[in-house]
Formats: sequence, structure tokens, C-alpha cells
Amino acid sequence: MSIEVKHKDPLLCSPVKFDQSRSSQAKPPTTTSNMKYSLALAAFLSYATAYPSVLEDLVARDRGSSGSSGSSGSSKCAWNNYKCPPVKTVAAAAVISAKRTNCGPLPCAPFNATDQYVSTTGKYAYKPPGKSDIRGPCPGLNAAANHGYLSRTGVTTQAETIAGLFAAYAMSPDVSEPLAIIAINQFGDPVGQRWSIGGPIRGVVNPVTQNSGISYSHNNYESDGSQTRCDAPVTNGDAHSLVVSRFADTYINRLVKGRGAVPGTGYGYTLDSFAKDYVFKSDWSISHNPLYVSAPFAGTIVAPVAYQFIINFMSNHSEANPSGWLSPEVYKSFFAISGNYPNFKWNPGQERIPDNWYRRSSLTPYDNPAAFSDLSIAGAAYPDSLRLGCNNGKVNTYVAGDPTPVLAEFQTLGFAGNFKQFAPGNQQCPGNAYNPIGPTQNY
Ligand code: HEM
Repeated sequence: MSIEVKHKDPLLCSPVKFDQSRSSQAKPPTTTSNMKYSLALAAFLSYATAYPSVLEDLVARDRGSSGSSGSSGSSKCAWNNYKCPPVKTVAAAAVISAKRTNCGPLPCAPFNATDQYVSTTGKYAYKPPGKSDIRGPCPGLNAAANHGYLSRTGVTTQAETIAGLFAAYAMSPDVSEPLAIIAINQFGDPVGQRWSIGGPIRGVVNPVTQNSGISYSHNNYESDGSQTRCDAPVTNGDAHSLVVSRFADTYINRLVKGRGAVPGTGYGYTLDSFAKDYVFKSDWSISHNPLYVSAPFAGTIVAPVAYQFIINFMSNHSEANPSGWLSPEVYKSFFAISGNYPNFKWNPGQERIPDNWYRRSSLTPYDNPAAFSDLSIAGAAYPDSLRLGCNNGKVNTYVAGDPTPVLAEFQTLGFAGNFKQFAPGNQQCPGNAYNPIGPTQNY
């Protein structure tokens, strides 16, 4: 007999500590709940051999562990007492969203081990950052630097960004090139043609870019509503440190059954489950951050696409599953998380590409059409995942902005223009005046 482990409604946030309806789970079991418990236990035992740690995690969650006890992050950003509003869903589009593979609506090219193997040995061996090496808010870039796919200093060039991110993740140059150009010209060192994956580059002075690095590119590149980082205005400018309870919430509540190494088995994360996660995390921002802004580019593209990057770039591929799957273990490795749910620890700057890990195929790299398809499908299924607007200086005052002037500015200036004016161009958002510049992050 096959018994399913009862999985919480994926549209719910993590258990809410003081919620009566949920705290009833902690009461002594009645006869019916005894039976449920036995079934759950039987289910647990039947799956435990294959997926012990995930099931233990799910059991811990259902016993009411909130996932808040791990170390690091700001308590102002703690996720465990937050109750999400229901996510707005367009049913027909949600069906399409849920059917996507981890490579998008179309499957990846057939598996080719030689092409897809990502070396983690020799010159690509993992090394944590040294004292003066820079790391920042982006786990994908941090991991690439820790393995030498980008300069280990955390300061890189356009050419290295394109080559390194293709080698490590099969990120297409039509995505990596404009991202590098923006990083150099808006937040980096245009004179030296370099950019920093974290805070300022030592010794560089540039009044135009402020040499802020991507860590301090608030509402221009770095955005509110990130999956594991807090909103800059809530943490005095720190939008680069991972908040463990935010990670734990996603880790446990976005698991989807049936995306294992062998399709139909195991637990993993999907484009659909992370599209919903973005709605929840940005809802949190609207209800906790008076200066919440979803700016053109940073908010409408970078923030939601980063959720989709995780699935598209961090999934492991195999002969059995050429479109890839993202296991909780691999997710933890890329986000520098150790320990078991709910006692996670964030190890700053120690993002790692797992050993024996295979990226997406070079024949189906992640390009701009794929990124826009991901954003469009998510937006059609969950309309709140497309946001252009802001809070008006108080929480829960979100008003949508007018995209017309933004599109006009973009047509005139393009990616190499004065990008920073896109954000204030939208509407009077008090959050746009908040522009923190902080120290270089060395871990
Ligand atoms: C040139 C390439 C890239 C640039 C310039 C870049 C830049 C950024 C920036 C500015 C952020 C902060 C956004 C925010 O506040 O939400 C960010 C976050 C993020 N990036 Fe990247 N990124 C790049 C490549 C990648 C790659 C290749 C991956 C995946 C392998 C990746 C995964 C992520 C993720 C998952 C986040 C969100 C982290 C979180 O919310 O905790 N990025 N990136």
C-alpha cells in the first residue's frame, strides 16, 4: 500500500507560532489524530530509507518547529511569526506554471556528462574567501568566485563574467553580458572596467557609480523582496546577509514531491514553487517595510528572476533527469547553509558548487527568452509576482506605478545609459531616497 506523507498546503507560509489553529497540532492526540499520526509514522518509515533527512525535516516542521532557531541574520527580518495572505492565482495559468520542468516550459537538451560536468577540483577546487576577498548578496556569483570560475578576489571583468558564468552555469552571454555592463558602469569601476560582486572595490573613487558594488545598488540592482536576504531599509542597509529564518521558510515550505533524481520520486524545488515564494516574500516586504519599492528592472526583473535563477542554474542534471532537479542538500550547499532544519547555520561567503554536480546543457543555455518566459508564466499564474510600485512611507500602502515613462527611458538609454534614474522615474516612492553605501564585505 502506498501512503503519502501529508504535506502542508504549499500555499501556506511556515507555521505561525501563536496561531491557535496551528498550535492545536501540539495538543495530545485524539483517537483520530492518533491514527493520522500512525499513518504519518508509517509513511515516514516507508520513505525514510530513501530520503531520511528531508522527511525528518518535514516531521520537525509539522511538529511546529518554526525554522527560526538557526544562527545569523537580523531578527527584524525573522520570518517565523509572519502569516501570509493567500496568493492570488489564475488557475489555468497556474496549471501551466506547475507543469514546467526545472529547465522551463520545454525540457533541456539530452544529458551529456562531458559537457555538463562542472569541475570542483584542481584550479576549480573550493576555497573560502581570503581576508581581502569580496563576497556579496548573490549566492551564484559567490559560489563561482569560491571555485575560481570568477576571480577569487570578487572583483571581475566583463569577459571573465561571460566565460566564467557560462562554464559554471551555462548562463548565456545575452544574459551575462548586459548584467556585467550594468555592474561595471552603474555600480563599479568603469575606468578599470571591473565590478565587485559585493561592496566597494578598495582604492576606487568614482562619483558617478559611487563604487557601491552590487551590495549597495539598492532599488537599481539589489531589490526588496529577496528570497533569503532582508530589505535594505529594514536592516540599515544590509541586503547582503542571509537571514536564516527566511531560508528555512523556503527550504521547508517550497518542497515539491516528485522531482527527485528519478522523476516521480523524492522532494525538490521547482520554478512554480519558487514563483509563489517570490509573491510571499514580497508580500512580507509590503507589510513590514514602509520604504518597500519594486523598481523598474531591480524589482520587476532582477528580484523575481533571481528566484528562477536558483532552479535554472542550481539544479543538478543527470541521464535520468536531463531537465534537472534541485534537492534540499544542493540548495543548502549553494546558499552556504549547514546543519539540519530547523537548526541551520549560515556560513558567510562559503557558497559551494557541490561535487559531482552537472549544470544545464550548453545546447540549452539560460538566455533572455528563457528568462522572460519564466517571468511571464509566473506573472500570468500569480499576478502579484509582477510588481512595479511602492509603499508610501507606511506599511501596507502599496500602490502600483505607471510603466510608460520607464519604458520610454529604457528605449532611449538602454542598458548602458544612466540606469539609476529608472527607479525615481517611476513615481514618488519615498524608498527611492534611501540609498545606503556600506563597507566592502569580507568574510
Ligand atoms: C552577471 C551575473 C549576475 C549578477 C550581476 C547578479 C546580481 C545579483 C544581485 C544584484 C542580486 C541581489 C538581488 C536582490 O536583492 O534580490 C542577486 C541575487 C541573487 N542572485 Fe545573482 N547575479 C548574477 C548571476 C547569478 C547567477 C549565475 C545565479 C545562480 C547561479 C544567481 C543567483 C542569485 C540568487 C539566488 C539571488 C537571490 C539571493 C537571495 O535572495 O537570497 N545570480 N544577484
